[in-house]
Amino acid sequence: MDAVRATYYIESSFPVKRCAEIIAMEESTGTWTEVHTTEGKDLDFVTAKVEDVDEIRGKAVIAYPVDLFEVRNIPQLLSVVAGNLFGLSDVANVRLLDLEFPNEFISQFRGPAFGIDGVRDYIGTKEDGRPHVGTIIKPKVGLNPEETAAVAYEAASGGIDLIKDDETLCDQRFCPMAERLPLVMDAIDRALSEVEERTLYAVNVTTGADEIAERADIAEENGANMLMIDVITAGFDALKVLRENCSLPIHVHRTMHGALTRNPAHGIAMDVFCRLTRLIGGDQLHVGTLTGKMEGEETNILHLDSILKEEWHGFKPVFPVSSGGLHPGCVEEEIGKRGMDLVLQAGGGVHGHPYGTKAGARAMRQAAEAMALGVGLEAHAAGAPELSRALETWGIGKIENYYR
Ligand code: 3PG
Repeated sequence: MDAVRATYYIESSFPVKRCAEIIAMEESTGTWTEVHTTEGKDLDFVTAKVEDVDEIRGKAVIAYPVDLFEVRNIPQLLSVVAGNLFGLSDVANVRLLDLEFPNEFISQFRGPAFGIDGVRDYIGTKEDGRPHVGTIIKPKVGLNPEETAAVAYEAASGGIDLIKDDETLCDQRFCPMAERLPLVMDAIDRALSEVEERTLYAVNVTTGADEIAERADIAEENGANMLMIDVITAGFDALKVLRENCSLPIHVHRTMHGALTRNPAHGIAMDVFCRLTRLIGGDQLHVGTLTGKMEGEETNILHLDSILKEEWHGFKPVFPVSSGGLHPGCVEEEIGKRGMDLVLQAGGGVHGHPYGTKAGARAMRQAAEAMALGVGLEAHAAGAPELSRALETWGIGKIENYYR
C-alpha cells in the first residue's frame, strides 16, 4: 500500500495492538462509536491500518494511505500522524518516533538547495573539510543595529564562518531587521576585505504566516546571504515558504522542540523534525550538543546526525548544528564523535572570551583547524594564544553547573 508509515511508542492499559488500532481509527475513518454515515461505504482507501506491533517494546507501525493526505500540505500531515492521538484518554503516553514517506510524497518536495556541500562551497572549506564554526550574537536581545553590526565585525575579523541572530531576535523596535541586516552585511564585508574568506549571516525571518514571504524578500533585497527560521514555533510550512520562494541557504533553529521531544515516553521524537527539515529543504538544523548546556543523549544525537547526512531519497545532506553552551574546549569531543561535517556554534563561548569577541572567534576557528590537522586542542594551543586563553578559562569538555 502507498502510505505514510508512522512508528509509535505506546503506553496504555490496553495491549499495544488495540491501542494502535484506536489511534488508527481516530486519525482516519473511525471514532469512539459506530456511525451511520459509513454504512454501505467503502472507505478502505483512507483507512489507516496497523501493520506491525511489538508488545514487548511497546511499538507499533501504522500505515496511513496516501489518499488520506493532501500531499504537500505539511500542517495536514501533522494533524493526521501527530494529531488527536496525543490527547486520547485511553492512551497514557504515545510518542511519534519516526515517519516514512511514499514516493508520491517525496517527489513533491525539493530537499535542501545547498546542503553540506553547497554551504562548504560558499565558505570555501570543501578542500580542507574542516568543521564550521559559528556564533550567536549575544546578548540575544537588546543591542541596536549598530551595536549588533559592531559585534558581527569582531566575529568576522576573528574568522568565524557563520554569524546568526538568536531565536528570539526578529524585527523588534530596538533592532529592526531591515536596519540591522545591511549594517551587519557591511560589517562582514569590511572585516573580510583583506582576506579571502566568507562569512554567512543567518538573519532570523521568523514571523507569522501572513508575513514570512515578504520578510524573506526584504532580507534578500537587503543583501542577506542566509535566512534563519524557528521552525517549531513558525511551523514547517514557513520553512516550505522560504525554500520555495528564496534562493538563499536556510538555517533552521528548533526552539520549543523540548516541549515535544524531551519526554521519552510521549510527544514527537526529534527524528521526525530532522526528516521534515530535510524533506522540505533546510540546509542546517540544530540537533543538540554532546558537551553543552542543553539536555541531550549521545546515542540519540549521533542518530540525528545520521538522519541528516545518510543517503535518503537522493536529498542533499543537511549540515547538523551543535549549539548551546559550547566553547572552544568542547570542539575535540564534538568533532571526535560526530565527524568534520558539523557546525559548532558558540555564543557565550565566543563573546565571553577574556580578550573579547574577535579572540573568541579566533579561538573557535583555531580549535576547528586543530581538528582538521588531526592535532589535539592542547597541542595546537601552544601556538594559538586565543585558543590557549579559552582553554585556561573554560577548560576542556563540558562545563559542570552552567548558570552558577
Ligand atoms: C543557541 O541559539 O543555540 C543559543 O543561543 C546558544 O547560546 P550559547 O552558546 O551562549 O549557549
